[in-house]
Amino acid sequence: NEGKLWGGRFEGGPSPELEALSRSTHFDWRLALYDIAGSHAHAKALGAAGLLTADEEAELHRGLDVLAESYTSGRLLPSPADEDVHGALERLLIEEVGPDIGGKLRAGRSRNDQIATLFRCYLLDHGRVVAGLVLDLVEALAGQADDHLGAIMPGRTHLQHAQPVLLSHHLLAHAWPLLRDVDRLGDWQARVRSDSPYGSGALAGQSLGLDPELVASELGFTGSTANSIDGTASRDFVSEFAFVCAQVGIDISRLAEEIILWATKEFDFVTLHDSWSTGSSIMPQKKNPDIAELARGKSGRLVGNLAGLLTTLKALPLAYNRDLQEDKEPVFDSIDTLEVLLPAFTGQVATLTYNTERMAELAPQGFSLATDIAEWLVREGTPFRVAHELAGACVRAAEAKGTDLDGLTDDEFARISPLLTPQVRLVLTAAGSVESRSGRGGTAPERVREQLDELRRMVAAT
Ligand code: ARG
Repeated sequence: NEGKLWGGRFEGGPSPELEALSRSTHFDWRLALYDIAGSHAHAKALGAAGLLTADEEAELHRGLDVLAESYTSGRLLPSPADEDVHGALERLLIEEVGPDIGGKLRAGRSRNDQIATLFRCYLLDHGRVVAGLVLDLVEALAGQADDHLGAIMPGRTHLQHAQPVLLSHHLLAHAWPLLRDVDRLGDWQARVRSDSPYGSGALAGQSLGLDPELVASELGFTGSTANSIDGTASRDFVSEFAFVCAQVGIDISRLAEEIILWATKEFDFVTLHDSWSTGSSIMPQKKNPDIAELARGKSGRLVGNLAGLLTTLKALPLAYNRDLQEDKEPVFDSIDTLEVLLPAFTGQVATLTYNTERMAELAPQGFSLATDIAEWLVREGTPFRVAHELAGACVRAAEAKGTDLDGLTDDEFARISPLLTPQVRLVLTAAGSVESRSGRGGTAPERVREQLDELRRMVAAT
């Protein structure tokens, strides 16, 4: 059992089949620099507790620096016999500093508290990267909203024309959920940062007088774990992170679906930029929204990663179980997915050209101003139930006549009800309709401008 972290009580070495199953270096090697940072911090704690001489501690730091340097330059690699990143690094450290000093580093720690700590460090770093990429998308949406403050589009419910809205209002409705995702990452980060598990040992804590607060602050945590069993057994910090990744995926998939629809001949609302769309190998005319489709597709994968992870965690008895080794690949995949998807998606969003004429032309169609007639009647003193009926009768008359609501004559309005005086025409334009929805959060241009400012203030404060 040369080079292994365990073996004293075993007579023979592990079977190759077991080794093949057990090995995790092909995915946890990406944690090596975090493991090395943890080892530096742990060496300090051992030194502070009097378990290493100053020379021994210095030699360990030197050896760890050598490993970090050759890892960064791509020369440090695990060997097939290494079980995981922790075992590989201990073997490599011993090769560098010798077994007498290298063999002292493992005192008072276990791979269980080690992985629980460095996995947090890794996720904290990538949480910041993902948050930054989501903010880039929020800014792209805000930029497009800013550029189209005058444009009106058909607002929809049930995918049917409902009421006209500003295009900017609609785009910002995609930005707010993404900003909340960034906020969620901030909440998550504060919780994770206060909870360094080093010192939890395998599960019961350590007996060597080590200072977990020292390790915590060395690694950028604000505090250490209160319960060593919780510290080594819990992975809600992973599933919460995977949830936010999945939610980002879901949020962008909703915008993706709209972009795909908007780019159809039937909608003709947007034109994709050549550099952010793809062609067909057989149909020369094609211009496809592949980025949006990949976003829609990858959102399923992000949800799958969360579901897989939660399923691994379900009903696991305390404390550490080897099942927990399965916690990494799903969330690594979520991170890799978002880190490659978000920049492309943001580029597509930022470079979309909107056919605002077509949107404006369609906005009042499909009787989308019926609510405006009803609310105009209410402002004139008619009870809403009556107003709703009368506006519905206008829709029926217009439909029978084959026109939109503004195609009804004054006489035709008067025949439906004397309450429908020619003044009703004031609200029969999409612009008038949008203008009138001037309560907070509404689609009136000045409200949307305020909304955009509010969003940008929050982005700046993030
Ligand atoms: N590589 C393991 C993991 O990712 C940590 C090792 C713990 N192994 C053990 N036998 N206690 O969870």
